[in-house]
Amino acid sequence: MSSLSLRRVLTLFVLFAAVFETSLASVLAVDYGSDWIKASLMKPGVPFDVLLNKDSKRKIQSTVAWKKEERLFGSDAANIASRFPQDSFSSLKYLQGAPFNSDIVTYFTSISTAQISETDRKTVALKQSDGTEWSTEELVAMQLSYVKKLAEDLAGEQVNEVVLTVPPYFSQFERDSVADAIEIAGLKTLALINDGTAVAVNYAMTRTFSTTPEYHVIYDAGASSTRATVVSFSAAEDPKTKASYTQINVLGAGYDRNTGGTELDLRLRDILIDSFISKHRRDIRKDNRGMAKLWKEAGRVKTILSANSDAMSTVESVAFDIDFKAKVTRTQFENACKDLHPRFARPIHDALANAELSLGNISSVILTGGSSRTPMVQAAVKAAVGEDRIALNVNADESAVLGAALYGASLSRQFKTKDIRVTDVLMHDVQASYLASNTPTRTIHTAVLPRGSKHGARKTLTFKRQEDFSVVLNYPNEVMSGFPREILEANIIGIPEAIGNLTERGAIDPVIKATVVLSESGFVSVRDALAYGEIKDDSITGKLKGLFGGGGDQVPETDFEEEAEKNEKKEKSKKALAKDQSSIPLEIEIVYNAQGPMNAAAKRASRDRLRALDNLEVSRQLREEAHNTLEGYLYKLRDLLDDGPETPFTKCSQHSERQTLSKKLSETIAWLHDEGETADTMQLWEKRTGLEILEKPIVHRYKEIEAFPQALNNSQKWNWSTRLFLTEARENVTADAIAGVPSKWTSEDLDGLEKALQEHEVWLNNGVERQKRTKMNEDPAIETKEMRERAKTLEQHLQRLVRRKAPKVKKTPAKSGEASGSSSAEPTETGDRQGHDEL
Ligand SMILES: *[C@@H]1O[C@H](CO)[C@@H](O)[C@H](O)[C@H]1NC(C)=O
Ligand SMILES: *[C@@H]1O[C@H](CO)[C@@H](O)[C@H](O)[C@H]1NC(C)=O
Ligand SMILES: *[C@@H]1O[C@H](CO)[C@@H](O)[C@H](O)[C@H]1NC(C)=O
Ligand SMILES: *[C@@H]1O[C@H](CO)[C@@H](O)[C@H](O)[C@H]1NC(C)=O
Ligand SMILES: *[C@@H]1O[C@H](CO)[C@@H](O)[C@H](O)[C@H]1NC(C)=O
Repeated sequence: MSSLSLRRVLTLFVLFAAVFETSLASVLAVDYGSDWIKASLMKPGVPFDVLLNKDSKRKIQSTVAWKKEERLFGSDAANIASRFPQDSFSSLKYLQGAPFNSDIVTYFTSISTAQISETDRKTVALKQSDGTEWSTEELVAMQLSYVKKLAEDLAGEQVNEVVLTVPPYFSQFERDSVADAIEIAGLKTLALINDGTAVAVNYAMTRTFSTTPEYHVIYDAGASSTRATVVSFSAAEDPKTKASYTQINVLGAGYDRNTGGTELDLRLRDILIDSFISKHRRDIRKDNRGMAKLWKEAGRVKTILSANSDAMSTVESVAFDIDFKAKVTRTQFENACKDLHPRFARPIHDALANAELSLGNISSVILTGGSSRTPMVQAAVKAAVGEDRIALNVNADESAVLGAALYGASLSRQFKTKDIRVTDVLMHDVQASYLASNTPTRTIHTAVLPRGSKHGARKTLTFKRQEDFSVVLNYPNEVMSGFPREILEANIIGIPEAIGNLTERGAIDPVIKATVVLSESGFVSVRDALAYGEIKDDSITGKLKGLFGGGGDQVPETDFEEEAEKNEKKEKSKKALAKDQSSIPLEIEIVYNAQGPMNAAAKRASRDRLRALDNLEVSRQLREEAHNTLEGYLYKLRDLLDDGPETPFTKCSQHSERQTLSKKLSETIAWLHDEGETADTMQLWEKRTGLEILEKPIVHRYKEIEAFPQALNNSQKWNWSTRLFLTEARENVTADAIAGVPSKWTSEDLDGLEKALQEHEVWLNNGVERQKRTKMNEDPAIETKEMRERAKTLEQHLQRLVRRKAPKVKKTPAKSGEASGSSSAEPTETGDRQGHDEL
C-alpha cells in the first residue's frame, strides 16, 4: 500500500472518532533522533500526518544553535554550525542520561565541535561560546517545546501530552533524561515507546493477521545506532467483549549502540581529514570551523556515494584560507567501513537469539531508519538474512512517529482507532539487592525483573524482617560503558511498629511485602510496601465474622432491595476491616545514590530558565518591532513635511503646526540615532506617540473633509424620508378618522417625530453653515461622526413608527365603534383577543 493511501485510511480513523467524541485533547508524538526529529499530531478534524515545520519540511534537524543572541532550530541551526561551531548543538541523543565520564561522551566529542562540561549531577552540559551552559535535558527540552509550538499552531489549542520514541536498549538513566526533558518543555509524558515497537504498530494498522502468530524483524538503522526487534502479530479476541483485536508481542531485540549513520559520517570525515592533511600538511583537526565544515561535507558526500561510485568533495575556504578539493570513491569509503559490515547484521542475530527464534520462523525483515537506505547497510542485511526476506514496505523515515501517534491515541482512549494491543519487554536484567537479615554483611541478589520481562509487570518480594531495611534495584551487567549499575534504593520505613502491631493482634510470622514494578514506558520502581500477617480466627476479625457472617437471615425483610444493598456494604466493610487488620502499608523512601532523575526543584529551575529565555526572545522581538515601526513612521512624516504645498497634509495644516512637528521630528530622528539601539520598547512607543499627537489633528481635518459629502447626503436622506412619511401619514390619519376606522398612529406620535425632525434640521443647517465658513486648515465645525449619530437617531425614530402593525378591523362592523374605542388606537394582539372575549 502506498504511503498516500495509507494516510488516507488513517485520516478516516481519526475523523471517525471525531463523530463520537467532543472536546478531545490532542496527542503529540515525537520520534526524537540523533539527526532528525519527526513529529505527528493526533487531533480529531486535523488530518493525521507528520507535522510540517515552518518550511513545510516533514522532518526537523535535531539541532539547536545560537547566532549571537538569536536562537535557531532545525536546519537554520545546523546551517550555521560552520560559522558558530561552539554554539551549534547536534547529536544530543548520545548525551541523554550519559555520565560525564562515560565512553559515549568521549565518542560525542569526536563528532562534535561543541564544548562540554559536567553538571552537578555528573551528567553532561554544553557550553556556548559566551560561557552559558545548558544541560542536555534543557537543550532537548528547547527542541521539544519548539515542536510543541508547531503542533499548537496546527491544532489551534494547547498540546500537553506526548508520546516519545526511545531505542529499546535505553536504560533507566536514559529514560529518566528523556522524561525530564519532556517535563521541562512543559509537556506530560503519556508514554515512552520503543521505536521498533512503534514501527510494528504502524505496520499493523493497515494489515490483518490470523490467529496463528506471524513473526517479523523490524530492522532500524538510525543515525546513532542500529537495532532489530522481533515481533509477533496475531489476531485475538477480547474475552469480555468478544471484539477482535490485533496483538503485537515484542519477543526480543538486538542492537549495536555505536553503529549507525553517524559512525559512517565519522569514517568519511576521517577520509577527508587524511586527504586534507596529506595534501596541505596542516592539521585541520585543531580548527573548529574547519571540522564543522568537514562534518557537514561528510554527510553530503555519503549521500552522493549511496547512488554513485565516486564523489567530488569541495569545500571553499575550509580552514587556513584553503579551498579543499578531493575525490572520494565508494570503494575507499566501504573499505574504511569494512569492520562495520558484521556490526550492521549482528543485531538481527542477537534479536532472534533473544526471542528464541530462528531465521526460518521470520516472515520478513522490515527495513526502517534513515541509514537503511545506505547500500552498504542493505548489503550487510541482505547477506545476513537473504534478499527475499527483506521488506521495504514501511516508510523508513516516518513509520516510527506515526506508530507512536497511533499508540498514543489508543492510550488516551479518546480516539477510536483500530484496536491494537502491545506487549513490550525489558532489555536489561534488573536485580534487587539487599542485606541478609541475619548476617548484615552479606548481600543477597534476586533477579527480580530479568531481561524479557513484560512491560507492566509487577513482582512482589517477600521478606522476613523486624527492622527497617532497604532494597536496591540495579543492573547486574553494565548497560553501557561507564554507566552506573545502581538504579535506585528503596528504604522501607516503619517496620518495627507495624510488625509489633500485627504480632500484638495475634498475627503469626508477619512478613514484609514489596512490589517491584516495570511500567509500560519501561521504568522500574518499588511500590506498595506493606507488613502482612494472617490473624488467627479467635482474634477480632474472627469475632467480627461471627457477628456479620450469616447475619443476613436475621435481617427483617422490610425492603429487599435496600437490605441487599446494606448487606453488600457490610460485606465490603467486613473485607476492608479484615484486610486492614492483616496488612499495614509502609512508607517507601526512594534514594538515588548513583544517577537519578532530576529532582523537582531542578526541573522547575530549568523550566524557569527556558521560560525566561522564551520571554526574553519575545520582548526582544517586540522591541525590534517598536524600533522598526518608529523608524518607518519618521520616514513617513519627513516625506509628508517635504512634499510641497499641494498635498492634503500641507493644505490641512497651519504653518506653526508644521514647524512644531518638524522640530519634534528632527529631535526624534537624532534620538533614534543616538539611543535607538539601547532604548526599551516603551520608550520607542512613547516617542512615536509624541509625534502622533501633533500629526493627528491635521490628518483628522483631511479625513473629515473627505467624509463630509457622504455624511451630509446621509443626513439629508433621512431628513427627506422623514418629511415624506409625515406628510403621507397625516393624510392617512385624517382619512381614517373620516372613515371611522382605527389608525396606526395617534397625532401625538406624528407630532413627536415632527419635533425630532425639526431639531435635526436646525442642528444640521446650522452646522453646515458654520462648516462653509471653516478653512481647510482649521478644525471642522461639524463632525461627521455626530452627523451620522444624529441621522441614526432620527432614522430609528422613523422606523419605529413605520414598523407599527396596522390595527385589526373588527369582523362585526355593528359593534366596531365600541370595540375600537376600548382597544385604543394602538391595538395589540392581546387587546384584540380581549375584544373577542367580550363578544
Ligand atoms: C520456528 O521454526 C522451527 C523450525 O522450523 C520450528 O520447529 C518452531 O516451532 C518454530 N517456532 C515457532 C514459534 O513458530
Ligand atoms: C495498631 O493497632 C491499633 C489497634 O490495635 C490501631 O488502632 C492502630 O491504628 C494500628 N496502627 C497501625 C499503624 O496500623
Ligand atoms: C447621495 O446618495 C444618492 C443615493 O444613495 C446618490 O445617488 C448621490 O449621488 C449621493 N450624493 C452625494 C453627493 O454623495
Ligand atoms: C431638511 O429638509 C427640509 C425640508 O424638507 C429642508 O428645508 C432642509 O433644508 C433640509 N435640511 C438639509 C440640511 O438638507
Ligand atoms: C397611506 O395610505 C396609503 C393607501 O392605503 C398607503 O398605500 C400608504 O402606504 C399609507 N402611508 C403610510 C405612511 O402609511
